[in-house]
Amino acid sequence: MTSTSLANQTIAVFGASSGIGLAVARGARALGARVIAIGRDRARLAAAAGAHTLEIAACDIADEAQVAALLRDIGTLNHVVVTAGGVVGASPLTALDFDAARDAIATKLHGSLLVAKHAAPRLAPGGSIGFTTGVLGRKITANTVVKTVINAGLEAAVRQLARELAPLRVYGVSPGPVDTANWGPLSADDRRARAAKLASTLPVGFMASADDTAQAYLFAMQARALTGTIIDLDSGAQVGG
Ligand SMILES: NC(=O)c1ccc[n+]([C@@H]2O[C@H](COP(=O)([O-])OP(=O)(O)OC[C@H]3O[C@@H](n4cnc5c(N)ncnc54)[C@H](OP(=O)(O)O)[C@@H]3O)[C@@H](O)[C@H]2O)c1
Repeated sequence: MTSTSLANQTIAVFGASSGIGLAVARGARALGARVIAIGRDRARLAAAAGAHTLEIAACDIADEAQVAALLRDIGTLNHVVVTAGGVVGASPLTALDFDAARDAIATKLHGSLLVAKHAAPRLAPGGSIGFTTGVLGRKITANTVVKTVINAGLEAAVRQLARELAPLRVYGVSPGPVDTANWGPLSADDRRARAAKLASTLPVGFMASADDTAQAYLFAMQARALTGTIIDLDSGAQVGG
């Protein structure tokens, strides 16, 4: 067996106050890692960390000074994961709110690159950088141009940086629909209806949970030969629906 254990590894997860990032943070902690869970709001992080003995740190991923200072404070790292991303509504291009689009790009696309920029010099040998893309990066769907360009851009960055930052490893995880706060504010009924509708289009026939999706990051951090690639852990969304 030549995979690398996560026991006693230091892992920073940007976007860990909820959803997929929180599931990655908890999963890595359960495997014995020291985990720093990062988001913008310390109170939210503290509530999310609960009894999982996660360390927490507040940082806006879109702010380079904050990202640089946090990673300087953390020091040497074994793995960094970015799942931070805001809610991005569907819109035809002709009605697109460009201020909102700029914010979304600054958070997820620029923010992921900022983390990679400042984490790379601090990653120990064997270290990895994980980005989060999404099925809409390749699956062309009406009115989702902002999500498409962000996710497609990050997928291109994975391939580019896997070469540029080698021997550090760089990978992406592309989720399909996962019922999290990333769907935006919905009533419980609307959320249930949306989840049921999406699940019926997915080859697996159900909606993946954040924990299901976290498996891809936990695998990627431990798979020492994995780099420059995207793991489509998407319930089959790329081929179904
Ligand atoms: N859920 C889906 O259906 C789905 C599908 C495909 C791809 N994805 C992608 O998966 C990733 C994770 O989303 P999720 O579903 O887990 O959503 P989520 O539950 O809303 O989690 C997003 C996380 O990002 C953090 N965050 C947002 N803006 C930030 C900023 N500027 N700086 C630092 N942290 C920030 C949030 O914390 P604070 O707000 O407390 O800062 C939160 O912890 C996103 O990139 C999303 O695009 C999700």
